[in-house]
Amino acid sequence: MNALSTVHFYDQDIELDDFSNEILAGLSKPQKTLPPKFFYDERGSQLFTEITRQPEYYPTRTETKLLSDHAGEISELIGEDFLLIEYGSGSSEKIRILLDSLRPSLYAPLDISRDYLAWAAEALGREYPWLEVHATCVDFTVEFELPFESEKRHVSFFPGSSIGNFERGEAAAFLGRIRSLVGADGGLLIGVDMKKDVGVLNDAYNDKRGITADFNLNILEHINREYGADFNLSQFTHEAGYDVEQGCIQMFLVSTCCQSVSVAGRDFEFAEGEKIHTENSHKYNVDEVLEMAVGAGFLKAKTWLDEDELFGVFYLYSQ
Ligand SMILES: C[S@@+](CC[C@H](N)C(=O)[O-])C[C@H]1O[C@@H](n2cnc3c(N)ncnc32)[C@H](O)[C@@H]1O
Repeated sequence: MNALSTVHFYDQDIELDDFSNEILAGLSKPQKTLPPKFFYDERGSQLFTEITRQPEYYPTRTETKLLSDHAGEISELIGEDFLLIEYGSGSSEKIRILLDSLRPSLYAPLDISRDYLAWAAEALGREYPWLEVHATCVDFTVEFELPFESEKRHVSFFPGSSIGNFERGEAAAFLGRIRSLVGADGGLLIGVDMKKDVGVLNDAYNDKRGITADFNLNILEHINREYGADFNLSQFTHEAGYDVEQGCIQMFLVSTCCQSVSVAGRDFEFAEGEKIHTENSHKYNVDEVLEMAVGAGFLKAKTWLDEDELFGVFYLYSQ
């Protein structure tokens, strides 16, 4: 643990061998797959931040406005003297909107992107000298324990509709794990992207500047560097589109030719046009979110939607 002035950094020692096995298992499936967590090396995190600034990418500006418009009400519901745990904190931009009104006793950002997390936590610590920050590099899709002790009440923050990256059943189970962590006197503030016009959704994942395409391709660059692969990025293209039946954006990398790729000493054959599935981003309606919340054990909910009902912020709690 490196202790800075008010910033502590913990590394949960992610097992590279486990990740390597996950990559090999995904590429061995009939529909080749790479889990979206591999998007996020330092460049992937920077590219995601750049995506959030694209005009087509409505989720970030809509969620940001909801948090800012309702910061007072959110703070009143959450109360005082608590540990705030953020899942997938990225640049920690969104928490800045709430910090002055929430005034948590401790802020614990969790993220898989080690260097970006360390940079974001230090920047936050400098900007908010009163705030004690405990940043943890961890894969939150596997069971883990917080690496520090706190007697404080726990409240979680899970913005950015990252819940949409889980399959629907897994998302419900994940909320259940958060409910267990925060307990009966805690809560979860979560941002969820709503079902909407297909054109708006498709544009958001196919921005004109091609930043989402670069982000998608960066997964191959990350795997080349960290896991001994030789993907040729110029031989794959980005594809993203909304699947109405499943209610999700699906993102793929499409092989532009017949090719063989070596990954961690194993060869994988690609036909021309064959796809690697890299991400699902499930969209919800309010009733679906509330049903999931009840299933997870939350007894109460407060919902905030923008006037076009593009995005929802929910505070889920029990007392
Ligand atoms: C879609 S971005 C959202 C970033 C930010 N919370 C926001 O709302 O703009 C997802 C974030 O979750 C992190 N992340 C993705 N998968 C993760 C995992 N399995 N464990 C921990 N963090 C993960 C990424 O590094 C990234 O910062």
